[in-house]
Amino acid sequence: MKKIYHLCFLTLVSACSQAPDRRFASVPPLGQELIPPEEERATKEILELVARGYSQPRPPKGPTGRIIHHKEHGCVHGELEVLESAPQNLRHGVFSETRKFPTWLRLSNGSGERRHDSVPDGRGLAIKLLTVEGPKLAEEVHTQDFLLQSAPNFFARDVVDYVKFMKQATAPGLKGVAEFVRDLNLANAADRESLKILAASADVPKSPLTATYFSALPQRLGPHAAKFKAIPCPGWAKLDASLGARAKKDFLKDVMGTYLRSRDACIELQVQVQTDPELMPVENARVVWSPDLSPFVPLARIVIPKQNFRTEKRKEFCEHLTFNPWHSIEAHRPLGGLNRVRKVVYERSQGHRHKLNNQRSAEPVPGETHE
Ligand code: HEM
Repeated sequence: MKKIYHLCFLTLVSACSQAPDRRFASVPPLGQELIPPEEERATKEILELVARGYSQPRPPKGPTGRIIHHKEHGCVHGELEVLESAPQNLRHGVFSETRKFPTWLRLSNGSGERRHDSVPDGRGLAIKLLTVEGPKLAEEVHTQDFLLQSAPNFFARDVVDYVKFMKQATAPGLKGVAEFVRDLNLANAADRESLKILAASADVPKSPLTATYFSALPQRLGPHAAKFKAIPCPGWAKLDASLGARAKKDFLKDVMGTYLRSRDACIELQVQVQTDPELMPVENARVVWSPDLSPFVPLARIVIPKQNFRTEKRKEFCEHLTFNPWHSIEAHRPLGGLNRVRKVVYERSQGHRHKLNNQRSAEPVPGETHE
């Protein structure tokens, strides 16, 4: 999986065109899914890629980290507060009542390596709410996770495209980007579209706390299919751009650390509801749902109090946390093929690394700050 994030050949793919969507004979109705017959086989192949990722040589010191989103800027605690202004028709699941949830956030680079933060990359924001009651779709008991990335869409349309692309990108014997591009069948419109989206997904934010993040894949919001977005809270103190010396390898951690030493931060969580099954598809992750069809609406904000997250104890806690979009109540069930495969992929990935690190996955306890 690692090589995929080396794809810095932005200009090579600028002339790419949108791939036609021919996988499905019909479009599933509003809020519904449609499982293609090839999905089961493709899922097995993805699991083999994950296992191969964890069979690479282990780091000389420290624990084996995640095969993607490997480098954390930090894990911070905060509190999610459902907004009083959240409209009645969007009040479902954890957003039903105007209440607060203790929250953990892990901010990361997308790559599978600890690279310099100035290398363009996708960025991740993983959110875990605690004290969430009700039956869950995967193993944790009191949590609701939301996983977001810094791009509004995903490079693969579905699981079949994903596995085909990843197999090429991680083929044994591949020496680097040049070979990967050479071997790719650029006459194939789907590959060109994937490259274009990957290229557009990679950038360098001023701070992990002020970037914009998207769920990119849909999930339930009660009866609706919906996508989520996180932005800095409007009107909140802006980040001082001079805080980060961009020459440093971990400058995004430095920027976040300096900011949170003296000030609280705030992230607003917004939702976009699917209103058109064709123009806002559930089974084609390449398509950005246009805000002209359905705008993003603020639902909640997460206040992150000032804190020192750069301690050994916090780092260790952060390393062993497990995020999975299926740590979810039914009201926020992940939707679409790529989400269906994520259930088993995240469980398997976390299983591999916990085994290698001789660790057990454990849910965070509310009130413990691991400082
Ligand atoms: C747009 C869709 C996606 C988003 C927003 C997303 C986001 C994330 C984020 C934020 C993390 C880091 C979690 C952490 O901090 O612990 C992560 C980890 C990971 N993601 Fe995704 N992801 C997406 C799609 C996928 C897909 C389709 C796959 C594979 C089929 C995948 C496989 C993984 C794996 C294996 C990890 C490491 C899990 C671990 O060992 O903890 N992701 N993802």
